[in-house]
Amino acid sequence: MMFGTKIVTGCAVALLGGSLLCAYGESMDGAPFPKGYRDWTVVKGRLIGPKSPSAATGGGFRYIYTNHSKHDGAPYAEGTVFVDERVEATEDANGVFQEGPTIQLGVMMKDKQCADTGGWCFNLFVGDDTSAGLSADGQKTCFTCHAKTTATDLVYSKFRRP
Ligand code: HEC
Repeated sequence: MMFGTKIVTGCAVALLGGSLLCAYGESMDGAPFPKGYRDWTVVKGRLIGPKSPSAATGGGFRYIYTNHSKHDGAPYAEGTVFVDERVEATEDANGVFQEGPTIQLGVMMKDKQCADTGGWCFNLFVGDDTSAGLSADGQKTCFTCHAKTTATDLVYSKFRRP
């Protein structure tokens, strides 16, 4: 399933032996905003609570969504998208953690054009901004960590139930 339009900027063009080669991969704008992701499959959820050492930078409800319909795992097909949504969590007077606004969305999309980052394009969207993007260096930071999970095609999360 594909959505959005990928914008390729500054495509490197080389004239070799009469053929025009365009080198994709270095100049992608990252994964597009995952429109409609809340209608997708929920892979799993977790609450990074106030006692967590990563509460300040990663706290809140974290939901993982995917447009991948099968539960058979890696390797994933081109166009597969995973979303790591971080939603504000606030404890009310009854000890119930309530949802607040979306803080950010981490997105990875399987796309062979993002060869520099393992065949996945990464991106980060903050708040309600659907146009924010990561620089190529930013995407590489995501990749550096996700590259440790080659056995599962760079995806950490497992479906919590088949
Ligand atoms: C320090 C390591 C690390 C870095 C850096 C990192 N991630 Fe992740 N990411 C993880 C781990 C671990 C999980 C699984 C989370 C869990 O299960 O609690 C994950 C989960 C995800 C998922 C859900 C799919 C999956 O692999 O489980 C997406 C999407 C995602 N990250 C995107 C990003 C993006 C975008 C960036 C860069 C802005 C990024 N990540 C940077 C470690 C990292």
